[in-house]
Amino acid sequence: METGTFEESMRITIDYNNMMQETLGARGLTKAELTALPLREAVKGMKEKRGQMKWRELPHNQDAIVGEIEAVAKDVRARFENFVVLGIGGSALGPIAVQQALSHLRYNDLPREKRNGPRLFVEDNVDPERMNALLDVIDVEKTCFNVITKSGSTSETMSQLLIVTDLLHRALGEDISTHLIATTDREKGNLIKIAKRENLQTFYVPDGVGGRFSELCPVGLLAAAVCGIDIRMLLRGAAYMDRLTQNENVFENPAYLPAALQVAAMKRGANIHVLMPYADSLKYIADWYAQLWAESLGKRTDNAGNEIYAGQTPVKSLGVTDQHSQVQLYTEGPFDKVVTFLSVDRYRSTMPIPNGYLDIPDVSFLSGHTQNELIAAEEAATEYALMKSGHLSYAIRMPEVNAFTVGELLYLFEVMTAFAGELLFLNAFDQPGVEEGKNATYALLGKPGFAEKKAELDAAPKKRAEYVVR
Ligand code: PA5
Repeated sequence: METGTFEESMRITIDYNNMMQETLGARGLTKAELTALPLREAVKGMKEKRGQMKWRELPHNQDAIVGEIEAVAKDVRARFENFVVLGIGGSALGPIAVQQALSHLRYNDLPREKRNGPRLFVEDNVDPERMNALLDVIDVEKTCFNVITKSGSTSETMSQLLIVTDLLHRALGEDISTHLIATTDREKGNLIKIAKRENLQTFYVPDGVGGRFSELCPVGLLAAAVCGIDIRMLLRGAAYMDRLTQNENVFENPAYLPAALQVAAMKRGANIHVLMPYADSLKYIADWYAQLWAESLGKRTDNAGNEIYAGQTPVKSLGVTDQHSQVQLYTEGPFDKVVTFLSVDRYRSTMPIPNGYLDIPDVSFLSGHTQNELIAAEEAATEYALMKSGHLSYAIRMPEVNAFTVGELLYLFEVMTAFAGELLFLNAFDQPGVEEGKNATYALLGKPGFAEKKAELDAAPKKRAEYVVR
């Protein structure tokens, strides 16, 4: 790997000292525990299945579509005051995470001339209060909606679409294609039918790219481009991480290594994974990651059909905020978790702490420092406290938060998840548990074809009044 390049200066690193016995003592992992994992088989699996993991090619095969996205985004930026994403799960968490990471932290509150693009709203719930609240703050005639659903059938998204198309038809008449963009599968599902009927600009989720692995395709790229984010740089960062994660030496691979650490820790009973970014810009990356890790690895059976009930519960924690709510548990509670610090070497701005109250040394010791120094010290102190109490942790370090490093990070987590799936010998790419819930919802609301599911629900044990407290 070359040194001294832009890529090298932006390289994400992993520090796992505090996972290992040499630092942590008996509660730490040994090298033998790591090498006892089926590393060779998992590396082989990743290589052999690369062709099936279509998301792995997204950093490389989207030149034409990126140009189209940029052109549409330019038009949207010029014409609209609001850009509203309608979607859920993998069709919403990526756009939220990337916007928070790469736009101004108060983007929607900036005056238009400073924002230089529409306000962004990502609506990923069907809470009626939330939908009404959105409609209170936007004017639909000045709003472009992007409905995103890979399957083209998710009830939540379809309900939002019905509400929005009704409003648009009332406001604009027959032709609503100026205000609505669809992102969906090229052939399957209902959204593509609606998109054709309404003559909508449509972007496609590439074949074989699952929802939670779709941020680096039009699902995430359009919203990012509308907000002025450099999507080519995002993809360049992901492409660089693709190179790094092709290293077959697990101990040099920035995605395989953390996956191996997590799986070894799971074998020790660490069934919780806390992701703790020390940056507000990265806090929704933790939500995006939670879906990726939970849905991919939370599986009842392995590839041979054996019941394994695998998975590790992801928890989002924000440094330093959650030092004052969760860290007590992490330092003194059970040894059932791994904490991953997501650190930033250089923040995008500096906030000096001015002189004041010099006669109160317990306050004035902060003067002359910066909040940058304070947050770094607090993170180092928390890492130390966890290490001292024998709790497992490691750090993923980003030189700074920019489009390149966020592209790297997203891709790193995706490969890490896929590799953990190989180590656990399970299918990281399906979500039968989610489908069960989706089908039960269809049955309860009378969707055609779900009568049998409705009968199954009707036959479920009835709730007993004796177990309800009034
Ligand atoms: O990862 C997944 O596939 C899911 O979480 C989906 O993203 C989520 O259920 C939304 O599905 P869709 O994009 O089909 O509406």
